[in-house]
Amino acid sequence: MLTYDILIVGSGGAGLYAALESRLQEKLQVAVLTKVYPTRSHTGAAQGGVNAALGNYDPTDSWEQHWFDTVKGSDYLADQDAAEMMCREAPTVVREMEHWGAPFYRTDEGKIAQRPFGGASKPRACYAADKVGHIMLHTLYEQGLRHGVDYFNEWFALNLVHDGQRCIGINAFSIRTGRIYTIQAKAVILATGGHGRTYWTRTSNAYGNTGDGSAIAYRAGLPLKDMEFIQFHPTGLRRSGILVTEGARGEGGYLLNGEGERFMQRYAPDKMELGPRDLVSRAIETEVREGRGGPDDEVFLDITHLGPERIQERLPQIRQLCIEFEGMDPFEEPIPIKPTAHYSMGGVHTDINGLTSIDGVYAAGESGCVSVHGANRLGGNSLLDILVFGRRAGQHAMQYASSVEFAEVPDSALTEAETCIKELMEGDGKETVASIRQDLGRVMADKAGIYRDGKGLAEAVNDIEELQHRYKRLAVKDRNTVFNTDMLAALELRNMLALAELIALGALQRTESRGAHSREDYPERDDQNWLKHTMATLGADGRPNISYESVAITKFKPEARTY
Ligand code: FUM
Repeated sequence: MLTYDILIVGSGGAGLYAALESRLQEKLQVAVLTKVYPTRSHTGAAQGGVNAALGNYDPTDSWEQHWFDTVKGSDYLADQDAAEMMCREAPTVVREMEHWGAPFYRTDEGKIAQRPFGGASKPRACYAADKVGHIMLHTLYEQGLRHGVDYFNEWFALNLVHDGQRCIGINAFSIRTGRIYTIQAKAVILATGGHGRTYWTRTSNAYGNTGDGSAIAYRAGLPLKDMEFIQFHPTGLRRSGILVTEGARGEGGYLLNGEGERFMQRYAPDKMELGPRDLVSRAIETEVREGRGGPDDEVFLDITHLGPERIQERLPQIRQLCIEFEGMDPFEEPIPIKPTAHYSMGGVHTDINGLTSIDGVYAAGESGCVSVHGANRLGGNSLLDILVFGRRAGQHAMQYASSVEFAEVPDSALTEAETCIKELMEGDGKETVASIRQDLGRVMADKAGIYRDGKGLAEAVNDIEELQHRYKRLAVKDRNTVFNTDMLAALELRNMLALAELIALGALQRTESRGAHSREDYPERDDQNWLKHTMATLGADGRPNISYESVAITKFKPEARTY
């Protein structure tokens, strides 16, 4: 049997940081299990910056100001104690990344360079061109290799093994061989990223962002929090949804509608294009709905005035993506863009150390929900979240794993995993993964998108239930065990269907508008009734149970959110 003190599922920034941190201190046996190769994790797609109030651009910046911006950006749904801790720790973790070798750009004085980002009162996004996630991911992977972390690349996690109170390990299979294993572990950290692929074609997310860790936790009986909050990034490439960094607007790019008008003056006269993402995405959607979009219902991001030299220095990847995926050159013309499902504010409910209600089971990064982003995350706080909470989860898991013995693995440990795979492989229905997945994406984008209403959400709940029935009639055509990507896609779809139901149901029940959750039939924020977190737990009947928990308000009283 494979045995590790700490097993991390997922190799994005949170997972790699957790692995490194837990390995550094005590020299425990630590492994990362990932369905991709680590440097292909979705953290590599984060472009524009990581927030920390270093004051290198504006010396009057402070962690307190960062804290306030984060809470205001969250539409007051963030737990303020957790957000405080994240903003306080930000300078430490960013400097730690720098010391490990992350090549941040520099000011003329040689300090880490910072740029403006949306919803922030000061320029505090630390950057390296438009490849910040990429440099962080590579730095963390290299350090993990150096410090003796083991990697299970191209493995897929199926379910937690636990006794309801403590962690025993995890079941997973090697994608290369198809063989299923129980990996015994004192602690498991779920760090598998978000579930933006539930929106399938309208997302900036990598194909792998199917919410595997959150779905594993949900099936293990752990509550998922605030799942209805899905962030649309304002600037995805028109056709592919691929991210065009907020850094483009931070560098001075601006938005134009189909009439060539700089429309943000109508929506955020002070912040303009650097308003928070929920507000800017709604503004774009409104322009298009009211007939002021371009021919393909897009608007335009103009960076031509920055000039080739600055674009090449600060936004080289954006130019490349535009050329390859849109067939246009941003040196010469504005970039056609549409808002794109980008970030899952909700995830596995944890405390500030990433711990869940099962001893030894943790979640961190986008698959976790502490919550520091509430109803709307600020740009640049995602890379920060993975550093702060990846590190904290690693530290806590390390202390825990040093203090307990391994729990015995029951003989039945593999049963759930084997049954799941067997049922899939023996299915002989007519449905395909591709058609269900496509339909799921359409339901989510049309009925649980930027603007929502009760009718559409009720339909979405029913539609998703119908898709879950169709899933039972799925046929996995490839019956081989070696690199069976057909089966893998079916397992990912199962996870997405479970999470999509929670998004739609939570959104249907939340009869207010807050942050990224914008109900046209309930356009106002309702603190009286809805200043609370949504908790979704799997019921014994296989259906979700929804309950609510209070929000930690320690300093900032909710007030009207204007920009
Ligand atoms: O726009 C961006 O560069 C994305 C950053 C983020 O989601 O934090």
